[in-house]
Amino acid sequence: MLVTKDLKMADVVHMNHFSLSILDRFGIELGFGDKTVEETCTEFNVDPSFFLEIINAFIDKDYFPKKQLQGFSVKLITDYLQKTHKYYIEIKVPEIESHIDELVNTCYSQKENMSLLKRFFEEYNTELHHHILREETVVFPYTQMIEDAFYADKIDIGIIKHMKEYSIDIFEKEHDDIEEKLYDLKNIIIKYLPQPNNKALCQHLLHELFGLEKDINDHSRIEDKVLVPKIRAMEKEIKKKAGLKS
Ligand SMILES: [Fe+2]
Ligand SMILES: [Fe+2]
Repeated sequence: MLVTKDLKMADVVHMNHFSLSILDRFGIELGFGDKTVEETCTEFNVDPSFFLEIINAFIDKDYFPKKQLQGFSVKLITDYLQKTHKYYIEIKVPEIESHIDELVNTCYSQKENMSLLKRFFEEYNTELHHHILREETVVFPYTQMIEDAFYADKIDIGIIKHMKEYSIDIFEKEHDDIEEKLYDLKNIIIKYLPQPNNKALCQHLLHELFGLEKDINDHSRIEDKVLVPKIRAMEKEIKKKAGLKS
């Protein structure tokens, strides 16, 4: 079932509680009573159509409105992607770290095996930070520059020079899979570590890791399938306007 603008926002959360994280990064707070999706979005200054495409793509893995999402501005898309980064770094990673610490300190007797788990997640965290830093300092400023140039009356020669040094094709090639390591981490716990004393804590950690993996999957899909083709089409148009062959 797809989320529509007339559905009650509370029902969206009942449909899939993982959607709470999406609501949070849009700045939508709980306590929406019987308000619809559209009414809640308006109250929190969120574009309802953008919200609908994002939430549906998140809830239903078979629904991916590539064309519709590409219709929104680069700024709207990258603002959303940046809010997602912030959520990973400031909320999810510290939460998972504290679960791992608790598990290592209280639930296992074989400390050496457990520090492996800790080290693995630390390495993952470093990788995630690099990945995000690269996108926020190189990729998103570039995509914004391309959008501005696309709507400008005249093409600046500096833009063309910049596009020769960096392009969205480069990002596409270097954009690595940050979910893979999370899958490996889950497997260490599921397949190899001995049963912990506190099974509930272990299951909670796994639940968090599954949630983060799903979220990052959804996030990368927007980068690869929405942002990349949108920018590629704009680059082509800019080159055409500047009288260059694409
Ligand atoms: Fe990202
Ligand atoms: Fe990414």
